[in-house]
Amino acid sequence: MCQIACEWSGVPVQENEIKNLTNDLGAMFESAGAVGPNHWMGRNARNSVEKWIGEIIEKVRNGTLIPPENTALYIFAMHRDSEGNFLDTVTTAVEVINILRPIVAIAIFINFILLALHHYPEEKEKLKSGDEKYTQKFIQEVRRFYPFFPFAMALVKKDFTWNGYKFEEGTLTLLDIYGTNHDPKIWENPDLFYPNRFAKWDGNPFDFIPQGGGDYYMGHRCAGEWVTIEVMKVSLNYLVNQIDYEVPEQDLSYSMVSMPSIPHSKLIIKDVRKRT
Ligand code: HEM
Repeated sequence: MCQIACEWSGVPVQENEIKNLTNDLGAMFESAGAVGPNHWMGRNARNSVEKWIGEIIEKVRNGTLIPPENTALYIFAMHRDSEGNFLDTVTTAVEVINILRPIVAIAIFINFILLALHHYPEEKEKLKSGDEKYTQKFIQEVRRFYPFFPFAMALVKKDFTWNGYKFEEGTLTLLDIYGTNHDPKIWENPDLFYPNRFAKWDGNPFDFIPQGGGDYYMGHRCAGEWVTIEVMKVSLNYLVNQIDYEVPEQDLSYSMVSMPSIPHSKLIIKDVRKRT
């Protein structure tokens, strides 16, 4: 995931740097809700990746590195404000990292795809036909069913009332992502893994919110939702139709309160064979 994220964003990375970069980007999202050592691992990782990307941005600006023009690296590095100035290097580096990090995080959804295939082998059979509509429904159900990002946090900017609830400025507020995706008022038998439920879903942006709710353009719904779905589809097809593998004994449980949540064993597969 790290390699494709870099390639797509125009960030040059050497083969021998990928492992460290993956670990650093992973530490950043695995520490999203952490305190203590994990939090500090995330902070250190952020500092070192910011410095490294910052140097790359300087090279783009002084012409010693020329990434393709339609990549995030090029567009962010060469962006000028209304007065003709570049963004400061740290802000630009953070924006580039905001593209790389969540693409690497899609690996967690791929873990949950593997878990679903393991727990519901009958689904694997249905997916073998490569039916695009069923693949889409399966991916949506993985994103609804599992608690990757159980909640999102925000500070209330100014007082407001919504549906009779008062929100006061400065209050820390949680959006219950998992709870909304499992709300029995919205979803029939919410704890059943049932991809075909999406045949009837009407696209309401407040019902199904694995990557935030509302509108992409006016609200904060995840700008990377389409990218995530496409990467998940390609990965699912690879796992179902291009390889065979075994799932050895391991701890497949996952937390309902961690941020992010991921199967405790991080899902190990073995005896991977490419199908001929
Ligand atoms: C890996 C799975 C992903 C999850 C679970 C996820 C989750 C989220 C959530 C919950 C938000 C809303 C945050 C809020 O309202 O406070 C968000 C926003 C955002 N995400 Fe994602 N995301 C994922 C993948 C991606 C990818 C792959 C990209 C880019 C390539 C991306 C880019 C963004 C951006 C730019 C925003 C901010 C949107 C805005 O505020 O206007 N995300 N994401």
